[in-house]
Amino acid sequence: MASTDPTHVTENQSREEESLSRECKELIPTLPREKGWTVRYLYLFQGFWCNPHRIQPIYTFQKQFQAKDSDVIVATYPKSGTTWLKALTFAVVNRHNFPSSENHPLLTSNPHHLVPFFETSIYGEMIHDQIPDLSNVIERRIFGTHVPFPSLAKSIKDNSKCKIIYLCRNPFDNFVSLWMFVNKVKLESAPTLMLEEAFEMHCNGTTRYGPFWNHILGYWKESIARPEKVLFLKYEDLKDDVNFYVKRVGEFLGCPFTHEEESSGVIEDIVQLCSFEKMKELEVNKCGTFTRDVGNKHFFRKGEVGDWVNYLSPSMVEKLCKIIEEKFRGSGLSFRMCS
Ligand code: A3P
Repeated sequence: MASTDPTHVTENQSREEESLSRECKELIPTLPREKGWTVRYLYLFQGFWCNPHRIQPIYTFQKQFQAKDSDVIVATYPKSGTTWLKALTFAVVNRHNFPSSENHPLLTSNPHHLVPFFETSIYGEMIHDQIPDLSNVIERRIFGTHVPFPSLAKSIKDNSKCKIIYLCRNPFDNFVSLWMFVNKVKLESAPTLMLEEAFEMHCNGTTRYGPFWNHILGYWKESIARPEKVLFLKYEDLKDDVNFYVKRVGEFLGCPFTHEEESSGVIEDIVQLCSFEKMKELEVNKCGTFTRDVGNKHFFRKGEVGDWVNYLSPSMVEKLCKIIEEKFRGSGLSFRMCS
């Protein structure tokens, strides 16, 4: 079986290392590490596996970010439908600013540009002690993150009434989506990450922001303890009845849809605007770029429930079922694997 080359490092790594604080430079070599998917190593930082160049931004985010009560945080484990949830949340929150879907920002901007990630777009571009200027961000502010719940900035978790919407996805489709994505966005010179190897890493929990079970359970438990703070959603449920969950998001964020809005089709318009078919075909999502290496088109593949059956062997399915059973036992959380 071919394997990824452990010497593969991203082109940006040395520039990123220069921007590290002394604290981070000293910390990283002391952390446990495992082979990474797109970088040489992932490091166990604050209990989750992290690309080394994300540690500094997350550190800075934790120290600096001051949440406002009105903020909305869209949180996910990678490849769980982040793009979709960002689009839906943006459309719900801003429906009075953009009542017509004809000149809506989602038609010309990718959701990741409208709802920036803390750890990449906001704090990822900073030298460690710089403070990003968030004064121009339009209210109500919406941010995205893959950071696990315990590692969010304190002002999000405890010192403000800001709201968190979390979207999880069944770990079978989630894995296939992640594996396909990583191989699509890798540098041409980097070898293909084989399915079997990636699967072992997924099962061992050594994935970005993983283990996936800790990520999901962290937000799940918080959503049970503080339902007014964290709304926990599932990709498969959204696929079943997205209209219902758009309404639910409006209620949760304190901006419920009025009867007039409902009867005049505002919810349907949002669902249609954010649908996979619509978003995938937009010029910005066909040709635009998220970062230098990642095209917007890579965020739209199939958008289905159950595509994993085309990739995983019976023994893989058995192994992952056992892991899910063991890790989620007693949590009250279950996953729907098929459409
Ligand atoms: P697949 O690879 O299974 O197709 P993320 O946004 O967290 O990176 O997740 C990407 C996954 O969400 C991809 O899954 C992608 O196709 C799917 N996706 C993107 N936009 C979507 C939308 N509007 N509706 C449903 N699924 C969407």
